[in-house]
Amino acid sequence: MDELRQAAAKAADLMADHLDRVGDGPVWQPVPDGDRAWLTTQRMPENGRPLDELLDDARSRIMTHPMGNGHPRFFGWVNSPPSPAGAVFEPLAAALNPSCAGGDHAGPLLERTVVRWLADLVGFPHPPGGGLLTSGASMATIVCLASARQRATLADGWDAREDGLSGHPPLILYVSAEGHSCLHKAAQLLGLGARQVRTVPVDSHYRMDVAALRSMIATDAAAGLRPFCVAASAGTVNSGAVDPLDAIADVAAEHGLWFHIDGAYGALGILADGAAPAFAGLDRADSLALDPHKWLGVPVGCGCALIADPAATRAAFSLVPSYLVDENADDLGWFAEYGPEQSRPFRALKTWATLSHLGRDGVARLVNHTTGLARTLAAMVEDAGDFELLAPVTTSITAFRYRHEGSQARDGDGLDALNRAIPAAVQRRGNAFLTGTRLGGTDALRTCILHPNTTEGDLAVLLDEIRAAAKDLSR
Ligand SMILES: Cc1ncc(COP(=O)(O)O)c(C=O)c1O
Repeated sequence: MDELRQAAAKAADLMADHLDRVGDGPVWQPVPDGDRAWLTTQRMPENGRPLDELLDDARSRIMTHPMGNGHPRFFGWVNSPPSPAGAVFEPLAAALNPSCAGGDHAGPLLERTVVRWLADLVGFPHPPGGGLLTSGASMATIVCLASARQRATLADGWDAREDGLSGHPPLILYVSAEGHSCLHKAAQLLGLGARQVRTVPVDSHYRMDVAALRSMIATDAAAGLRPFCVAASAGTVNSGAVDPLDAIADVAAEHGLWFHIDGAYGALGILADGAAPAFAGLDRADSLALDPHKWLGVPVGCGCALIADPAATRAAFSLVPSYLVDENADDLGWFAEYGPEQSRPFRALKTWATLSHLGRDGVARLVNHTTGLARTLAAMVEDAGDFELLAPVTTSITAFRYRHEGSQARDGDGLDALNRAIPAAVQRRGNAFLTGTRLGGTDALRTCILHPNTTEGDLAVLLDEIRAAAKDLSR
C-alpha cells in the first residue's frame, strides 16, 4: 500500500505541476522523433514495472506532449482546459471503479442529480429519468435520434427494433447546412441512410432557414416519405450560430416531428448576459445534447443527452438480459436501458465536482468571460485592415479570415489557399493554436474561446501570429 500512497502523491504533484506551468511554454509542438517512436512502438514489458518508474516516464515522455488545450492561447476546435475539480476527482472515480450501468451505489444516484443540474442550468424540462451522461455529443446524438426513430415508427404501427426499416416509408431527418457531422453519422448508423438527411439552407447569419424547412417537409410528405425529426443547433461548430429554435419548435409541433437540439458546445451560451432571447424555444425540444466536456471543462469524455420524455428513450434501448434483472431497481430502471452502453464509467463524479466547484454563478462568469472575449476579437478583426469578420458572434466562437491589407475580400483562390494554410503554420510557430473551416463558400479561420484565463492580450498575440504566419506563407 506504501507504493500506492507514494505514487498517488507523486501523480498529484505531477498533475499540479503540469497545470501550474502549462501556460508558460509553447501552446503545442510536434512530437520529436525519439518520443514519437517510444510512444508508438514500445514493446510491452515481460515483467511489471514499478509505479514510480512509470510516473517518471509520464513526466518526461507523456506530459511533455500535450494537445495544447490547457494553454490560454489554444483556440482550436472545441477543446477546453480541464476544470481543476475534474482533474482532482477523476482519479477518485477510477479508485471506486463502478459500472454505472445501474445498481444501488453512488455512481448512478449522483448521475441523477448531475443530469438534473445540467437541465436546470439551461432551462430544459426535466422529468425523473430525463437523460443520461454519455461519452460525448456523438453518442448523445445517437441516443436522441434513436429515441426519435422509435417513437416515429411506433406511431406508424411499426416497430423499427423488431422489423428494421425496410418496407417502412423512408424516415426523413432535417439538418441545417451548418449542422454538426455527428448528426449525419448518427443518421447513417441508425439505418436512415445519408440520402434521407435533408440539408436545410441557412440565412446570412448561418441559422436554419425556417421557410425552407417548412417547404422541404411539405415536399417530402407529399411524396409519401415520412418526415420524423428536425435537428437544430444551439451553437454551430463553425460560427457558434444559434438556429431560430422557437420557430423550428412551431414547425416540429405542426408536423409531429421530434425536435432535437445539438447544444453540445453552445447550449450554455444561454447563461451569457442578454443571450437568453437568442435561445428562446430551447425548452420546447424533445431532446438536447449538451457536453460537459466542452464549455464546462469536465475532463473528456462526458456528454449528456437530455430527454423530455424518457419513456421514448427506454423504448428505444431497453433490453435487459436475465442476469441483469435487478429486483432492487426503482421504476426508472437502469441507465443501461436508456442508451447503447452497458458498462458505463462514473462520469457523474467529475461533473458533479466541476459544477459544485464553479456554482451556477461561476458557470455564468465563465460563459460571460469567454463570449465577451469572442466579441472583443470580432471587434479587433473588424478594426484591422487585414482581417475580415465572416459571421456575427453569438457564443464564444469567432469566424473570420485573413486578407492582405487593402485587398478585396472574397477574392478567390489565392485567399482561400492562404487561409487554408494559416492554421497549421500558426500551430507550428507555437505561440497560439487555431483551426480552420469552410464557411459560406470560403476558407475561414475560427477561434473557440473556452479557457477561463485567456485575456485580451492573448487575442492580440493571436492576430499577430496569424499575420506572421501569412507573411511566411506568402514568401
Ligand atoms: C456543435 C457540436 N456538436 C457535436 C459535437 C460532437 O461532440 P463530441 O466530440 O463530444 O462527440 C461537437 C464537437 O465539437 C460540436 O461542436
